[in-house]
Amino acid sequence: MSKVIWKGSTMLAPVPPALVTCGTMRHPNVFTVAWTGIVCTHPPMTYISVRPSRHSYAIISKMREFVINLPTSSMSKITDYCGMKTGANTDKISACQLELVEGSTVNVPVLAQCPVSLECKVCETKHLGTHTMFLANITAVQVEEKYIDSKGKFNLQQAGLLAYAHGEYFALGRKCGNFGFSVKKKH
Ligand SMILES: Cc1cc2nc3c(=O)[nH]c(=O)nc-3n(C[C@H](O)[C@H](O)[C@H](O)COP(=O)(O)O)c2cc1C
Repeated sequence: MSKVIWKGSTMLAPVPPALVTCGTMRHPNVFTVAWTGIVCTHPPMTYISVRPSRHSYAIISKMREFVINLPTSSMSKITDYCGMKTGANTDKISACQLELVEGSTVNVPVLAQCPVSLECKVCETKHLGTHTMFLANITAVQVEEKYIDSKGKFNLQQAGLLAYAHGEYFALGRKCGNFGFSVKKKH
C-alpha cells in the first residue's frame, strides 16, 4: 500500500448533513450543517460550527438554542437547497413545504419530516477561525414513533438517513454489524 500525504483538511467522512432549525415558530429558519457531532455522552452534548456570515448565526447567538434535525435520503434535495439559499431573503420552510412541530424544551421549532431531532441549548461559543463552534447540551430528542418497535427499541436504520461525504450525498447502505458484535460470545 502506498499513501500520499496531503496537507491538513476537513476530510472526515461520512458526516450527517443536518437540517438545523433556529428562531421561533413564528419566525423560523433552517440551514444545512455538516460540521456537527457528539462530544459527550453524560451530559449529552453536541456542537455545530457556523460561519458568522450565515443568517442563522445571529439568530442562534441571540436565542442560544437550535435543533439538529436528521434528514432521510428522500430529503437530499431539500437538504442541499437549505444549504444553498439564505433565510435572509428566502422562506426556506415554505419553499420546501417543511412542517414545523413545537420543541419540548426549546422555543425553536422541530422539523416534522425528520425522524430524529435533537433539541439543543448553547452552553459555550468558541471562535475557531472561519467557523464559530456552538457547544450545546442536548436537552431532549424527538423521534418518529413509527420507527419504535414493540420492545421500545428505536430502529434508526429503517429511517433511511442521509449521509454526506466530500461534497456528495449518500443514502446509508447495508447494515454490516452491531455495537460490540466483534467480541460477542456465540451461544
Ligand atoms: C451539505 C452542506 C453542508 C453545510 N455545512 C455547513 C456548516 O457546517 N456550517 C456552516 O456555517 N455552513 C454550512 N453550509 C452552508 C450553509 O448551510 C448555507 O450558507 C446556508 O445558505 C446558510 O443559511 P442561512 O443564511 O439561512 O443561515 C453547508 C451547506 C451544505 C449544502
